[in-house]
Amino acid sequence: MVCLGNICRSPLAEGILQDMAWKAGLNCTVESAGTNGYHTGEPPHHLSIKVARENGIDISNQRSRLFTAGDFEQYDRIYAMAMDVLEDIKHISRNKFDEKKVSLFLNEQFPGEDREVPDPWSGPESGYHKAFEIISGACDSIVKNIQLSKES
Ligand code: 4NP
Repeated sequence: MVCLGNICRSPLAEGILQDMAWKAGLNCTVESAGTNGYHTGEPPHHLSIKVARENGIDISNQRSRLFTAGDFEQYDRIYAMAMDVLEDIKHISRNKFDEKKVSLFLNEQFPGEDREVPDPWSGPESGYHKAFEIISGACDSIVKNIQLSKES
């Protein structure tokens, strides 16, 4: 799960997908990273922590880290929260970039529509609730898509 700062959107995506995967009995490891490194080592934004907690998910132990080209060796799937993040991933990864592993996150729920998760950073709390709702919908689709792929 990749966004810019790894403090607002992708920590929510990590927490929500990990929670849904556990509940669905899927054995997958979910992690998140950011492409800009401005907040490396910091916990998620306090409003991401608050909104997640209100929805029964604790993301307070996460720490922001920079996305690296090595993540292409470590992970099977890489999800970008928005188009600028996808471009950053390409620049950071160079010859390690593997387009088969990368998707715009919301394309899991809305294939081919290239929708983006709006960045709530520096906005009001309502933006974090909206982000939680949008991210939850896509995480639900990811879990369902994994289950379908296991059945076939
Ligand atoms: P995020 O939000 O990418 O959802 O974590 C941002 C947080 C910080 C910055 C940009 C986006 N920043 O430029 O510091």
